[in-house]
Amino acid sequence: MSLIQEIDYGTPAATGEMVALTIDGMAVRVPAGTSIMRAAMEAGIAVPKLCATDSLKSFGSCRLCLVEVAGRAGLPASCTTPVAAGMVVATQTERLAKLRRGVMELYISDHPLDCLTCAANGDCELQDMAGAVGLREVRYGYAGANHLKAEKDSSNPYFTFDPAKCIVCSRCVRACEEVQGTFALTIAGRGFGSQVAPGTADFLASECVSCGACVQACPTATLIENTVIETGQPEHSVVTTCAYCGVGCSFKAEMRGTAVVRMVPYKEGGANAGHSCVKGRFAWGYAAHPDRVLRPMLRARITDPWREVGWEEAIAHVAQEFRRIQHEHGRAAVGGITSSRCTNEETYLVQRLVRATFGTNNVDTCARVCHSPTGYGLKAAFGTSAGTQDFESVDHADVVLVIGANPTDGHPVFASRLKARLRAGARLIVIDPRRIDLVRMPHVQADVHLALRPGTNVAVLTAMAHVIVTEGLVHQDFVRERCDEDSFREWAAFVAEPRHAPEAVQTDTGVAAAAIRAAARLYATGGNAAIYYGLGITEHSQGTTAVLALANLAMASGNLGRPGVGINPLRGQNNVQGSCDMGSFPHELPGYRHVSDAATRAIYEREWGVALDADPGLRIPNMFDAALDGSFKGLYIQGEDIVQSDPNTHHVTTGLAAMECVVVQDLFLNETSNWAHVFLPGSSFLEKDGTFTNAERRINRVRRVMPPKAGYADWEITQLIARAMGQEWHYTHPSQIMDEIARTTPAFAGVSYTLLDREGSVQWPCNEAAPTGTPVMHESAFARGRGLFLLTEYVPTDERTGPRYPLLLTTGRILSQYNVGAQTRRTANVVWHEEDRLEIHPHDAEQRGIRDGDWVRLASRAGETSLRAQITQRVAPGVVYTTFHHPMTQTNVITTDLSDWATNCPEYKVTAVQVSRSNGPTEWQERYRAHTEAGRQVAAE
Ligand code: SF4
Ligand code: SF4
Ligand code: SF4
Ligand code: FES
Repeated sequence: MSLIQEIDYGTPAATGEMVALTIDGMAVRVPAGTSIMRAAMEAGIAVPKLCATDSLKSFGSCRLCLVEVAGRAGLPASCTTPVAAGMVVATQTERLAKLRRGVMELYISDHPLDCLTCAANGDCELQDMAGAVGLREVRYGYAGANHLKAEKDSSNPYFTFDPAKCIVCSRCVRACEEVQGTFALTIAGRGFGSQVAPGTADFLASECVSCGACVQACPTATLIENTVIETGQPEHSVVTTCAYCGVGCSFKAEMRGTAVVRMVPYKEGGANAGHSCVKGRFAWGYAAHPDRVLRPMLRARITDPWREVGWEEAIAHVAQEFRRIQHEHGRAAVGGITSSRCTNEETYLVQRLVRATFGTNNVDTCARVCHSPTGYGLKAAFGTSAGTQDFESVDHADVVLVIGANPTDGHPVFASRLKARLRAGARLIVIDPRRIDLVRMPHVQADVHLALRPGTNVAVLTAMAHVIVTEGLVHQDFVRERCDEDSFREWAAFVAEPRHAPEAVQTDTGVAAAAIRAAARLYATGGNAAIYYGLGITEHSQGTTAVLALANLAMASGNLGRPGVGINPLRGQNNVQGSCDMGSFPHELPGYRHVSDAATRAIYEREWGVALDADPGLRIPNMFDAALDGSFKGLYIQGEDIVQSDPNTHHVTTGLAAMECVVVQDLFLNETSNWAHVFLPGSSFLEKDGTFTNAERRINRVRRVMPPKAGYADWEITQLIARAMGQEWHYTHPSQIMDEIARTTPAFAGVSYTLLDREGSVQWPCNEAAPTGTPVMHESAFARGRGLFLLTEYVPTDERTGPRYPLLLTTGRILSQYNVGAQTRRTANVVWHEEDRLEIHPHDAEQRGIRDGDWVRLASRAGETSLRAQITQRVAPGVVYTTFHHPMTQTNVITTDLSDWATNCPEYKVTAVQVSRSNGPTEWQERYRAHTEAGRQVAAE
């Protein structure tokens, strides 16, 4: 590993003043504040080092980087000593060489000499430095006290800690603090007895969240990935993008042949700058899991066993069935569902297949059930259906408002950046029914936490607006110059009504008026204020209204159009933004242009050579309604497990059961495939080229690191279906699909794989006006011209508590699992979360005689399930909470079919429930388990 590339120490002073000095006889000019080590690097001089690394602040403990400075006594550490004008530095003298050899000798004398068999051989900085300082012999031997027999800690499923190899450089401790912000590690003991300690026990039992930053920072084999121990050092690498969440972290997939050895977060990654979470770095083993289905399968009835067939037969069957259904039941009797897990190019092709080949707009996406209110609300207020900032923007925020999001679990790499900003002094407002980690954790504490009753976001946000307007906190200049004045006047009068005062809503919302006032004042007057929100805003019957309320707050306080401010939806899945951009909604062509717009239709009619329907098609829940009516019979589902992820499971499964041809394209037989007639094996993100668009609108390249295990990438399968249905599609590479997207979609006009390969990533809009993309939107004007204030009348949800269902259930994700868990449940991440649990307040538990770990029955008007209880004060009395990662819980059996008034986004976050003790899984769950087992049988050949 090159030493030079690794060195990057000392933060240049903000003044930009340049300092001239001499290093090893060379004249060097660097910004004031630069360390001598960094300045030497700029001059091409490598100074030996061990405790310094480019992602961490200089520490100065190893004493290997000592240098001589003319006229100065002693030998300063070059990593911690800043340059000074006229300084004359020597880095390579005989005296220094001797000292460095002495330091290295001490390290090596307490280090196993098993380099040839060590897993880090060839990738070990200690080994490199021993060579760099010319150490040839160790005089002390192992005679004295040493650590060579220290016990390994193999408790973490992904990495091993071997303290015998530790040089106590504390890079791991600093990485955990500075990069990850978890503070799980310390250096315990003193002097010779110093050692790295993960809490009081082992890594698994500690506060460690397995982000791997310490493993990456370790210069020796002390902390090392188990996959490297098992398979050896990688031989080559490919830069690609994580396929889990909407942060969109870039990774170097380090490979041996076509096998992944490890995923290393990419330092040049625009979204993650070299950091990652446990999922992206470690939980990729599902791609090679034996459960992967690698051959297409067919069956006539959903009660039949599956029959493996060749690709040709499967594709011909799909084409034939869809044409038969259309012939018998009409063109609109079929449709498709795109996936936010798939690439932009794949999603674009599915909507093209449905619109141009099926000839209907019956296409929808899983974003329907998560961020569709974001698209609708932000488009109405600002003119663009997307977040306004890049992640880097949070570094400039003075106040951060987190509402309905749990970044440390849901968007962990962004959370690390946010925590660093909070540790640096930014203020924090959390609005969430649950006491999420950010409310109080090491070195982070919210200034205000509004633990509102689920379902009352709009009342709280409108009350905050009331405070801003009635206390004279409106940013008048911003509103006058940037916003629609009539709408502002009407809105200001509306929110100023006494019924919107914090005092008037405190009973309904459960939040003290003083706390709402404090939050509003802090948000409006604390400097740059940024809003980050998640599904706790959108998945409500007033999801769109809440998004509008956030937009109103940001406009009224002038917090838009520059770094440090803005409205930032934290997107759940890796490509939610992209799947929406690509025209996955039944009413919108790519780029959010309505299907009724003749000019837009004409663009695609020319491109695709077919006439397009001007009427919006069916949304996902309406597809099931139509199936139950007998008018919808065929569905192509790419990479989406709607049975598990959509509300009202009974409605979904009866709808699917009423169809004649359900095609599921996925990696694994999932819950939806229990109701499918055709299974087409999909490809993982490692097996294809394409792009994902993250929550910042950042288009990242996905690069194929191995061939598709089942033969085809997902975009190729869609193309095969289109061709079998008579279409002339001739894409040979996803770059051609992106070229078509760029040709037809103004916000993507400048995007190409050539540009992405050159820039690394770009944020749309990317066009002639912004050739390398747009990190911050609406800088001088809103996309729609003037920002529009819209009224946000609070309408309580119809889902009310009462004597039968006295508690409110709300749901969310946990760090180690991902959504329906199809991938993460097939990795060692299950050690952290092997089942969904119901969080319940001690008071509610006691009333019901429930003890921690007891099985409980969770019942709502919609249905019931059983799971185990976890008693905790994270939830307030009257509120219970669970995750939805495990199919046996089927949390969506409980959720109702209430949905957002504008977008049909389901009201997952509010369900009135009752909780009582039970003896284990319900009869329904046992039946479901049996049905799943039967649904997975494959007939012997
Ligand atoms: S894996 Fe991450 S959280 Fe765990 S100790 Fe290392 S840096 Fe800290
Ligand atoms: S575990 Fe690695 S990074 Fe941590 S102190 Fe030891 S050698 Fe340094
Ligand atoms: S934060 Fe999200 S994108 Fe990044 S590594 Fe974790 S799951 Fe992947
Ligand atoms: S690298 Fe400077 S003291 Fe360790």
